[in-house]
Amino acid sequence: MSVRRLIAGNWKMNGLSHDGRALAAEIARRAKGLGPAAPEIVICPPATLLGAVIEAVRDSPVRVGGQDCHAAPSGAHTGDISALMLADLGCRYVIVGHSERRQNHRETDAEVAAKAARAHASGLSAIVCVGESWSEREAGRTFEVVTSQLAASLPLLSAAGNTVVAYEPVWAIGTGRTATPAQAGEVHALIRRELVARQVTDAASVRILYGGSVKASNAAELLAVPDIDGALVGGASLNADEFLAIVTAAMDAL
Ligand code: PGA
Repeated sequence: MSVRRLIAGNWKMNGLSHDGRALAAEIARRAKGLGPAAPEIVICPPATLLGAVIEAVRDSPVRVGGQDCHAAPSGAHTGDISALMLADLGCRYVIVGHSERRQNHRETDAEVAAKAARAHASGLSAIVCVGESWSEREAGRTFEVVTSQLAASLPLLSAAGNTVVAYEPVWAIGTGRTATPAQAGEVHALIRRELVARQVTDAASVRILYGGSVKASNAAELLAVPDIDGALVGGASLNADEFLAIVTAAMDAL
């Protein structure tokens, strides 16, 4: 199966104008030299930097995404950003249902699905995140949790053209503790089976990203696993060398 891989950097709440612009410009500069075998590269900076990052990557293959959006098209939602605003600015993607949103903002699967549906309606691709906690894994509930999150977080009309799934075990995010290729691989295979079973359009081509302490030193072994079609990278995406090494690993693993 040859889907184009995707490496997405989630900057989270990091970056001020000068360093954010410089990092994006450096990633764009290096991405231009990678050629046609390069994976799709997406940067998801904080909302305050979206304009600057879009400007900095303008003449490069690098695309930009938001880290979240509201489920409503517009209205009285102080502090929120709509999917249409992201699209209007030039974003192509938006992350929804990241575990930090699910935990810190108590977002439910239904809200995540509504956000993804709004992203689709606004012309964005949604990167829908799912993943179990450590206690759920220890209790042997990983498959059950991921299956139910996926079923309830993917809106109708999800398709390979508008949806990316990110498997991010909560215990691996920002902890330096990565899922082993075997642990990640069995969940990615499960997600693929679920996408097929749920008759998601072009299910075989939906990119399924692994996220959770991905770095240059472990990217190659993870990206060599079937059904790991890319990575959602947090901490390591804040360093151009690390991030580009992950991008390169995605090319080598083809
Ligand atoms: P991390 O974050 O790479 O810093 O673990 C990944 C994520 O939260 O998307």
